[in-house]
Amino acid sequence: MQQLSVRHLLGIKDLTPADIALIFETADNFKEVLSRTIKKVPSLRDITIANVFFENSTRTRLSFELAEKRLSADVINFSASGSSVKKGETLLDTVNNILAMKVDMIVMRHASAGAPHFLSRHIKANIVNAGDGTHEHPTQALLDSFSIRERYGEVAGKKVAIIGDILHSRVALSNIFALKKLGAEVMVCGPITLLPRYISELGVKVELDVRKALAWCDVANVLRIQLERQQMKYFPSLREYTLYYGIDKKLLDSLNKEITIMHPGPINRGVELSSDAADSHHSIILNQVENGVAIRMAVLYLLASQVA
Ligand code: CP
Repeated sequence: MQQLSVRHLLGIKDLTPADIALIFETADNFKEVLSRTIKKVPSLRDITIANVFFENSTRTRLSFELAEKRLSADVINFSASGSSVKKGETLLDTVNNILAMKVDMIVMRHASAGAPHFLSRHIKANIVNAGDGTHEHPTQALLDSFSIRERYGEVAGKKVAIIGDILHSRVALSNIFALKKLGAEVMVCGPITLLPRYISELGVKVELDVRKALAWCDVANVLRIQLERQQMKYFPSLREYTLYYGIDKKLLDSLNKEITIMHPGPINRGVELSSDAADSHHSIILNQVENGVAIRMAVLYLLASQVA
């Protein structure tokens, strides 16, 4: 069996293009499984996985849980609210207590960048980063690139614009790493205050004008304004942001070209994306969600083959 070059999935930065290709080929197989009447396979029958979420989630959490159940793993779920974290327990103590119950793999979301990397240095279980602060969200980037590959046959050579709050986005950074490793051209677009100062050093184009970004790209991956991570005001008002950076169907139609609209969710409808754009034929947003289950099955399956 082919194996990943890593024991944990902490970030796309650590993956080789061959790792990504292996994840995609494995996800192709699981996507076929998910189209069957009986969508379950016994691949992880002897594996126990804990989903440890210290931050809110809908898609990622449900998608991981479904992926684990489709693979026949035993699953336990932990969320910080309602746990003993509220009584002052440390991250390491919390996770070590979960591991004492003979858990093999941890899927973790945490508000602090580097939290899963810290854990990986202290525990034996395989760790999957389900989003760490403003740092990385590797399975989101994998499912995004997998969805572009599904739409166009390949990612190499495609022009992808990531539009919105790049500064606070872990989705943006993981997407940049994934898309560049797969040979896409990448542009970031947003208000100057929401673009990291040295972003062009990652080999991406920078554009402040959303119409120019849309005119350039094959695919626009639209991000929400992440108010929960903003420490200060980066633009005068949401209304003004929508005026200059909001994407609606009228704007898309005026480009007179084929364009694919993606969004990792949750969408703030009427802010970064209007409903008529989010629900238009340009949008593959729900395909992304569907592909997320196959991608997460692939990641868990490949990492589980390395369980100590
Ligand atoms: N895309 C994403 O991470 O969504 P959730 O925050 O709902 O998991």
